[in-house]
Amino acid sequence: MSTLEIKDLHVHVETKEGTKEILKGASLTVHSGETHAIMGPNGSGKSTLAYTLAGHPKYVVDSGEALLDGQDLLKMTPDERAKAGLFLAMQYPVEVPGVSMTNFLRTAKTEIDGEAPGIRQWAKDLSAAMKRLKMDPKFASRSVNEGFSGGEKKRAEVLQLELLKPKFAILDETDSGLDVDALRIVSEGVNRAKEANQFGILMVTHYTRILKYIKPDIVHVFADGHFVKTGGPELADELEENGYDAYLPEGADSESALA
Ligand SMILES: Nc1ncnc2c1ncn2[C@@H]1O[C@H](COP(=O)(O)OP(=O)(O)OP(=O)(O)O)[C@@H](O)[C@H]1O
Ligand SMILES: [Mg+2]
Repeated sequence: MSTLEIKDLHVHVETKEGTKEILKGASLTVHSGETHAIMGPNGSGKSTLAYTLAGHPKYVVDSGEALLDGQDLLKMTPDERAKAGLFLAMQYPVEVPGVSMTNFLRTAKTEIDGEAPGIRQWAKDLSAAMKRLKMDPKFASRSVNEGFSGGEKKRAEVLQLELLKPKFAILDETDSGLDVDALRIVSEGVNRAKEANQFGILMVTHYTRILKYIKPDIVHVFADGHFVKTGGPELADELEENGYDAYLPEGADSESALA
């Protein structure tokens, strides 16, 4: 049983216009086996939270804590965080020209497990996982995400999730841009991985449609840099119906949150 604790996190970035505070006291606890959905307006800081946990150097932590089983994530390098069991499926997965998917995945697996997987078993696992995600075997020899369509990139993120078996998976809009079949295939991949490994899931999404496949135990509203409401799955339906206006500072609305 593992626990991810985020305590009163304050984070800023340096921009041309000066310091921009993005996270303003974000707190959350996730246990193994739990699925948390995070919903909130554009620009409220959901991806910033994901990047901060993963260790993106642009995001500066001013105060607060992030602990994985009591270990201080914020003191670790991004690869140490991955080794500790944290996985991030990015909203906009990056292309890595010149590095094949096979090489990337095997290297990542070797780093995380501390030893190289047996070559035959690995080839079998990789090809089976790709088949289940309905990915053409040709993707294995292509460069990571290079020229992949939006939906193909999301599948590649879930392929990593299935093979790397983390303790906590942050899925940042893994459902965005997927066609109806891809949404089901990707969701089934996440569910399969969760069934096998009982990890905790933090799933950022704008749409309730994915929640039909990946059932959240807890739904959070994230607005203006922190969590403002927590509820059960019914909260997602309420948000779809009424939007975020009730959770925004007075005078703001979902649209002006973009400004
Ligand atoms: N590196 C950066 N430089 C400048 N501003 C940034 C940077 N990263 C994030 N921001 C700003 O911080 C705010 C939060 O961004 P973030 O991507 O975390 O929002 P989000 O909640 O994930 O939104 P969306 O739902 O659109 O994905 C935005 O106003 C964004 O423009
Ligand atoms: Mg985002």
